[in-house]
Amino acid sequence: MAFGYQAESADSAATARRKFAAGGFDLVLCDIDMPGESGTSLLPWLKEVDPDIAVMMVTGIDDAGTAVSAMLKGASDYLCKPFSLPEVRARTEQALEKRRLMIENRQYQDHLEHLVSERTKKVREGMERIRGLNIKLSHAYDNTLTALMIALDYRDNETKGHSLRVVSFTDRLARELGIEDPALTEIRRGAMLHDVGKIGISDAILSKPGPLNDDERAIMHMHPQLGYDMLRDIDFLEVPARIVLTHQEMWDGGGYPGGMRHEEIPIGARIFAVADTFDAMSSDRPYRAALGFEQVRQELIDFAGVQFDPRVVEAFLRVSEEEWRSIRDHVQSAVEARDGAGIPDELFPRVTTTRE
Ligand SMILES: [Fe+2]
Repeated sequence: MAFGYQAESADSAATARRKFAAGGFDLVLCDIDMPGESGTSLLPWLKEVDPDIAVMMVTGIDDAGTAVSAMLKGASDYLCKPFSLPEVRARTEQALEKRRLMIENRQYQDHLEHLVSERTKKVREGMERIRGLNIKLSHAYDNTLTALMIALDYRDNETKGHSLRVVSFTDRLARELGIEDPALTEIRRGAMLHDVGKIGISDAILSKPGPLNDDERAIMHMHPQLGYDMLRDIDFLEVPARIVLTHQEMWDGGGYPGGMRHEEIPIGARIFAVADTFDAMSSDRPYRAALGFEQVRQELIDFAGVQFDPRVVEAFLRVSEEEWRSIRDHVQSAVEARDGAGIPDELFPRVTTTRE
């Protein structure tokens, strides 16, 4: 015991290693010149066994080079012989204080890292929860939109299931063009709502047998704008609202209401135009039977670059007739099975599955 410290001595590096390995040391005073292994060779081993150990090198030669090299290898300090005991005590206390501060600092850092990781985990859990809620909300919106779409179909279209088929065709075409969620969901919603503006058109015009006169046609042509005005202020329908506004535009500028051309027309509306025409031509109507696939195909080719975006027509042609037919049959049988009372989930693939 000296100055209140418990000390042990070793007469060689080998003895020091053996004693040190048993543990319980805070500081080592280590001679550089020892019989056998030197202090500078023992130092790295000490630091490896206990990275927090304070090591003070002791030598008879006041050599700055040796001191620097020892400090670089992890020594805390350097004592030259002859030294006085008060000096050793002061330097020892300094080295132990430095060690204590380093340990405390590291523990504090560990604590902070732990806190950060805990908080990050909480934030991540919060985000996950919000994501789950958003997905639920999105499903709720889709259910509302689906109900609205069915209501619209009953009022306007001769062919039951028209909107549902158009949504499914639009979805398949968009995928063929490499479009993924969330853009895909926006496009699907746009297709679903395309004719929502017809709510504002009177039954007399909407259900008039025979052709419309110029005034009636002008009113009918207001439906994209009416639809857009209904949806434009609804946050989650911003993109679909643009599709509603532009669903009657044509590739060459001959459509309405804006006479937009080419890429000015949102891609969702360009895709919808092909899907809508495909459905119209391949469905039975009171005044004519459904056209054959070859005829529909030819019509789309003829009007590519006129009414339709040629890239979308190409995408349509890449999908086989069998696949189009199977999508159509699938929607139709689902509609007939439910008689329009509800829409099977698989017709509207979800953005992603919720974990809750
Ligand atoms: Fe329309």
